[in-house]
Amino acid sequence: MYVCLCHGVSDKKIRQLVLEEGIADMRSIKKCTALGSQCGKCIKQAKLILNETAPQLYKQAC
Ligand code: FES
Repeated sequence: MYVCLCHGVSDKKIRQLVLEEGIADMRSIKKCTALGSQCGKCIKQAKLILNETAPQLYKQAC
């Protein structure tokens, strides 16, 4: 599903950035995708996905 319609960023893309690239903070995700840089309506949903996915990254690392 698309999280950021303005920039075409999906939940899958966010999860991929976290789990495959190790990008686990909003600032870096915004920098990589431009998410949230237009209307900003996607920020809340993106944070939820990030908060849900980031712990999986730390589980992989341990
Ligand atoms: S939906 Fe993400 S900036 Fe508009």
